[in-house]
Amino acid sequence: MAEGNSLVSPTPFPVVDPERIPAPRYYDEAFYRLECERLWPHVWQMACRLEQVPEVGDWIEYSNLGKSVIVVRTKDGVKAFHNACRHRGVQLAKGHGSCETQGFTCPFHGWRWNIEGKNTFVYGKHMFSEHQLDQADLALAPCRVELWGGCAFINHDDDAPSFRESIGPLAERLEKYGLDQTRAEWCYATVLPANWKVAMEAFMEGYHVMRTHPQLHHANPALTNSRYGQDTGGLGRTLDPRATIRENIQAQFRGMELLSEGMAGMCHAKDVETARKLLDVDLPEDPMEAMKAWYGMVAHQVVQDGRARGESTPDLLALAVSDPVNAVEFLFPHYFLLPFLSSFSAYRIRPLGPESCLFEIWSLTQFPEGQEPPPVMDPVVLPYDSDEFPPIPRQDYSNIPDQQLGLHADGFEFMRLSKEIEGLIGNYHQIIDGYLKGAAPAKLAKATHLLGGNFDGPIHNLGL
Ligand code: FES
Repeated sequence: MAEGNSLVSPTPFPVVDPERIPAPRYYDEAFYRLECERLWPHVWQMACRLEQVPEVGDWIEYSNLGKSVIVVRTKDGVKAFHNACRHRGVQLAKGHGSCETQGFTCPFHGWRWNIEGKNTFVYGKHMFSEHQLDQADLALAPCRVELWGGCAFINHDDDAPSFRESIGPLAERLEKYGLDQTRAEWCYATVLPANWKVAMEAFMEGYHVMRTHPQLHHANPALTNSRYGQDTGGLGRTLDPRATIRENIQAQFRGMELLSEGMAGMCHAKDVETARKLLDVDLPEDPMEAMKAWYGMVAHQVVQDGRARGESTPDLLALAVSDPVNAVEFLFPHYFLLPFLSSFSAYRIRPLGPESCLFEIWSLTQFPEGQEPPPVMDPVVLPYDSDEFPPIPRQDYSNIPDQQLGLHADGFEFMRLSKEIEGLIGNYHQIIDGYLKGAAPAKLAKATHLLGGNFDGPIHNLGL
């Protein structure tokens, strides 16, 4: 995109004050169309998990906003192709499959390509002009793809900065936590009647925990209150001053259990069991020291237990100092990672229209070599209000459609964000506006770097 392109029309409903996000950005059709034209074709999109294409010839389709891409493993690594027959444009592949020897065959007139994208067969060749049979022209159109964090990311823009240049230091920080070694245990998906940004923003702060996830709040009210509500009196920001050390430890542990309920990677059951074994350890008398010591012991033991099982668990204690990560880390524009001890939850959100989006959740964890479960090829798709969802996403999903409806209300012109802990929302909207008005890619990448670690963080003026 050329910065300052005079052909780029002004962005509607721009973010003038990043503490105030105009409501029409979440439903206006023209705004949505601009996102489809100027944002999505230029960003790195999480296309698939790599265990979904484990062998040469394995492929999977990734589709967003009507643009379909085939991600395929070749003997030279993972490649991606735009999903269109070079004859008359029929999509070559739907879903996922394996085609090492036969390659891709168009269902319309039977033209064929190998997994490297080279055309191998044109039926009735003699009927075509020579220039229509040029091999370079007949090759499947490649799409940029880069591998990171156990996933393939695609980008439709040949001139966009690389994935790592786009995401910045967060990419390196997160991969030290063993992301590459994780595999998906399960994947759920749902369609939410809400703009994709409304869905994403439900995970950009922990301020909602007190009301939306009361079970988490009640297990450890000092933790949420100290961060978002009244302080607990200075004894230790995350401790109840009236509780004994043992009660405080129990509260922290109960929080872990609740996070884990049905959510696996959000706090994996294997880590909960590790922590349970440490509930009675000797601890310092000072409450804060006791809490720090207990968390240190849990992290240390998670590493020991993981390695004893044969997993390549990184040194979590050392990483907490050298490369700390937040409870939620956001990779612009649509992928979240929630690291917790040995494992992760991951979220991906795709727009389906101005007021509808597809929301997917994965549980990611490590397995000993040879004990990996089969790849999760398709999500379990549930209605967003299904009782089969674990409690935490069910609670989040309960707000999102109502928020979408409320945004239309007369008199509701903009959201009012906290400048201190809802900054991630104001910041990524500034970046969206940067894309919509055609800011220089390097400038957009530099601004995007500031989103790493911005969960519960402040609003920045990104100068876009
Ligand atoms: Fe694919 Fe004709 S459209 S072979």
